[in-house]
Amino acid sequence: MTGDSHAWAKRLLVLGAGPAQLGLLEAARRRELYVIAADRDPGAPGFPFADRRALISAEDETALERLAAAEQIDGVIAPGIDWSVAIAARISAKLGLPHPLSMESAQLAVSKLKQRERFTEAGLPFARYAVATRGEEAETAAAELGFPLVVKAPDRQGQRGLALARGLEELGPAVERALHASRSGLCMIEQLEPGREATVIGFSLDGRYHALAVTDRRSAAAPAFGVSLEHSWPSSLSENELARTIDIAGRATAALKIEQGPSYVQVIVGERGPLLVELAARLGGGHEAELIEAALGIELNELALAAALGETIDPQALVSQPLAGGACTRFLIAPEGELVTAHGVEEASALEGVKRIRLYREPGFVFTPFRSRSDRAGAVLTLGPDRERAVERAREAADLIRFEVAGANSESRDPPRR
Ligand SMILES: Nc1ncnc2c1ncn2[C@@H]1O[C@H](COP(=O)(O)OP(=O)(O)OP(=O)(O)O)[C@@H](O)[C@H]1O
Ligand SMILES: [Mg+2]
Repeated sequence: MTGDSHAWAKRLLVLGAGPAQLGLLEAARRRELYVIAADRDPGAPGFPFADRRALISAEDETALERLAAAEQIDGVIAPGIDWSVAIAARISAKLGLPHPLSMESAQLAVSKLKQRERFTEAGLPFARYAVATRGEEAETAAAELGFPLVVKAPDRQGQRGLALARGLEELGPAVERALHASRSGLCMIEQLEPGREATVIGFSLDGRYHALAVTDRRSAAAPAFGVSLEHSWPSSLSENELARTIDIAGRATAALKIEQGPSYVQVIVGERGPLLVELAARLGGGHEAELIEAALGIELNELALAAALGETIDPQALVSQPLAGGACTRFLIAPEGELVTAHGVEEASALEGVKRIRLYREPGFVFTPFRSRSDRAGAVLTLGPDRERAVERAREAADLIRFEVAGANSESRDPPRR
């Protein structure tokens, strides 16, 4: 496809072309939009779906603004990356483009601290935390909150600056890393909440919040603390827990005045009931839209595109037509080393219920130790008659896939579970 062949097409700027943006980029191509994708990584796996690739960081606001103006775009979207969500809202406001999020909502959503301030005003529950600018402040806060603690950079995501501190000896390095990653010079120290993790995938239409699905999230243990390894649907929460979880997700989006477009709310459900971990005013970064489409028939990527372009959305598009009893996305982890090839993909694809296998990296890519979301090597999406069967199929499929890397053992690793 070239620009000339569809000069009539609407022009969309997509911030990021990594694994988290793949589904949306594919949907944009299906719609024959003219897509300009920005990512600083020339090997970003989403670039092949773009009409124009711009080697610009999805966080370089000045360069993105210039690009957006020069390309005469009709809309801009940041699926899967938080900081860029606010950049997209600001660029849209400056260029007078339609946009689902107000600048204010977007700016609140991209800060773990600012959103908590709004949650407090709205009486919404989350883990106890303190803010520190230095190691000594963190130690004082830790003494009050008690270990184990989770240390975070309030304006980062994807486990950048995120660490578990089980005791004082782990606090210093964790705080240092969080402060180093932080844009604001602040770090958050939060009580570790035991419980089950869930994600509420939602879409707001003309001010009304629709919870499309609630998934279970299984996250990795330290040193890859918090990295999502698996999402499965439907959630294993009880009916009562589910209702309360959906209720706080809806109130969280209202607290940030999100009236239009996709949202992604992370929750931990423990003895005290559901607590908010975080809200993102965007599509999830783990192919949630594809899981929802496969399981519920709701075309969430298309809806996000429509919202980004300011198009009218028929509420019927949010009505689900269950296509399976269960679904699971399981992420693939490769051993350290330079990727030679992946084995077993065909066999895995042939298993019953396997909908899709994505490999994020080409041969030559060097896998570093598994620490954060960006270290994941791919994902398997499965359907089944229920959640358990879908999860089992995803495990079977993942077990068949072996990443051969140069200079290391070629076994796929199964990371420790929480
Ligand atoms: N207070 C907490 N108690 C227990 N677990 C937590 C807590 N905070 C974070 N986690 C764990 O870390 C994961 C990621 O947390 P968070 O969303 O704050 O970080 P992030 O860097 O934005 O990650 P992501 O990009 O995956 O959302 C959570 O899903 C959970 O597994
Ligand atoms: Mg998060």
